[in-house]
Amino acid sequence: MAKDKVKESEIAVHWQEEELIVPNDDFVKQANMADPEVLERFDQANWPDCFVEYADLLDWDQRWHTTIDTTNPPFYNWWVGGKLNASYNCVDRHLKAHRNKAALIWVPEPEEESHQVITYQELWVRVNEFAAVLRDDCGLRAGDKVTLHMPMVLGLPITMLACARLGVVHSQVFGGFSGEACGDRIVDSDSRVLITSDAYYRAGKLLNHQVKAGLSVNHAKGQGSVVDKVLIWRRYPGKVSSDAAMTDGRDFYVDELLKSKKGVRVEPESLPSESPLFLMYTSGTTARPKGCQHSTGGYMSYVAGTTKYYQDIHPEDVYWCFADIGWITGHSYIVYGPLANAATAVVYEGAPTYPDAGRPWRIAEQLGVNIFHTAPTTIRMLRKTGPDEPAKYNFQFKHMTTVGEPIEPEVWRWYYEYIGKGKAVIVDTYWQTETGGFIGTTLPALQPMKPGSCGPGALGIEPVVLSDDGTSLSAGSAGNLCMKNPWPGRMQTIYGDPDRFVETYFAKFAKKESKDWKDWPYVTGDGATLSEDGYIRILGRVDDVINVAGHRLGTKELESAALTVEAVGEAAAVPAYDELKGRVPELYISLKPGFDQSGVDIEVKNAIEKMIGPIARPSHIWVTTDLPKTSSGKIMRRVIAAISNFMDPGDTTTLSNPEIVDPITKQVHEAKKAMGEVTEDERRKLEVEVRRFGED
Ligand code: PRX
Repeated sequence: MAKDKVKESEIAVHWQEEELIVPNDDFVKQANMADPEVLERFDQANWPDCFVEYADLLDWDQRWHTTIDTTNPPFYNWWVGGKLNASYNCVDRHLKAHRNKAALIWVPEPEEESHQVITYQELWVRVNEFAAVLRDDCGLRAGDKVTLHMPMVLGLPITMLACARLGVVHSQVFGGFSGEACGDRIVDSDSRVLITSDAYYRAGKLLNHQVKAGLSVNHAKGQGSVVDKVLIWRRYPGKVSSDAAMTDGRDFYVDELLKSKKGVRVEPESLPSESPLFLMYTSGTTARPKGCQHSTGGYMSYVAGTTKYYQDIHPEDVYWCFADIGWITGHSYIVYGPLANAATAVVYEGAPTYPDAGRPWRIAEQLGVNIFHTAPTTIRMLRKTGPDEPAKYNFQFKHMTTVGEPIEPEVWRWYYEYIGKGKAVIVDTYWQTETGGFIGTTLPALQPMKPGSCGPGALGIEPVVLSDDGTSLSAGSAGNLCMKNPWPGRMQTIYGDPDRFVETYFAKFAKKESKDWKDWPYVTGDGATLSEDGYIRILGRVDDVINVAGHRLGTKELESAALTVEAVGEAAAVPAYDELKGRVPELYISLKPGFDQSGVDIEVKNAIEKMIGPIARPSHIWVTTDLPKTSSGKIMRRVIAAISNFMDPGDTTTLSNPEIVDPITKQVHEAKKAMGEVTEDERRKLEVEVRRFGED
């Protein structure tokens, strides 16, 4: 260990404790959960049966006989013996009381196009008809996997619910990802059907999305996976918006297939609670993304319960979550959670600041949105580009959410004062693709808010901060954030790779021989402190993952893409502070002998965009003569991450090539200063993350 390495606990105490802010009375009076006894009901003494309160929000075809089966940790089954259908729970059961109520309101990006309202009745019709396409035209059955690569169009939630109706496991890949990235996920998930769209609007442009389908299919084929059907939802049904060629017998327009399904109804499959509902791929420490597998009963109960208590959605509210359905936030808190609660959810197609920073507030005013849910990156962007915009519009939120990355207290306050107009309650919800739903947040009517801190563990969840040797740390000390006990929304496994599941989330602290779930804490991969009052403050990732604008990218994914460029000999990706996105990746590369550096930076950026997607595009490519390495030849990302963020790289004498640190520092700092990037003040925000980053 480096001689002058600052202890993490010492870093953590630099953080100042923020004041607590209580929710206003109007909110508390109407809240779904304002009864303090709920905290006792969900006390650890009542685990696991406390979660029955969530499972009872669903309609079960058959009630479970066992709350949780923990005989094979860390693989658990919730509501064992229970049977249900997620599509039935999100649609059919609401018809009696809410048939004519808006389920989804889709807002196209072009302001001249009017929004589309889908009632529960209409949603039911469309889900049934599309389920008939999947069943009859594609031959899909319960347990089959399909890959979705769709933007924010109504076809996406309809497709998810149609899959769920049949018990077909959907794996939605974020629409902004490249064809290659989608192809890799097709292979990993064993999908033989791809469901996509022809085009969508983003920042004023109608993007040609269908071209990616051919790339995905070919990329999958190169790895031995055959896609035999590609279904294409058209942005304008009946009209061609993409010039991508259609392959006969493989590619079909959904609007054409639906013509023969008018009035067809498909009975929802009654599925065992532990049947997988969907896969959601996320980045990890290797280049291969992990397919997080979520269950039907456990997941649905957890998102139904947390949506009701934490998002505080009542049937008459208008709820708008600005996330993309292609990420877990959209799955849990646009589609499954809100629809299970018979809510009205807004689905917006496009960019937050298109055509200007007033757009979200015009949508809120027009639709009467009163619950708003977004990520710090969007809040920072709206604050920067249009700080005075919200005041111009007549909307009033009762409740707002922030999710996906740590929010700086000053950004939190702007959100509270200018967007919430000092009245809306804020929940800073901490969770992950793996966790299915919120695991750290305040219960809005009962627990005060603290800017920059997400709050205590969610109901029934017990967070703990462990040092690297597994001891539980006291308040204020930074360490590994873990969750002691299982909860119903947690993923079941990594699809096709149970060993990796154990290795990634448990191996660090588990007593591997033990069959007692208490010996298997869930390791989040985040660094955090717990304060005296039990509130969690997330400090950033402690593994090789970079959180860019709330999206996770694995350093190895970025590096492998860079290494496809012929001239690149070595590559290392690190997170750098960014005013808007929180973090952006920077790449350090060294060239193979005999190669010239001209144009390499552009080639690397293009390779990353092609293999992953534009969100992964690095802000800088630093071409250096060599990279700092340990005596065993490992690249020390921690050292270059420190350089990128104007921090002290610490002791470099143990490197095999310490002499290169100074020239790289000079090269990067001079270039960055010339571009006006990163101030002294900002670097502290990254301190813990960078210090631990990339240390094998
Ligand atoms: O580092 C944490 C950060 O985002 C990671 C999870 O990313 P993903 O699986 O893409 O899910 C994002 C949406 C749930 C976490 O490990 N993160 C998420 N929420 C917060 C957060 N960091 C701080 N505060 C949050 N509220």
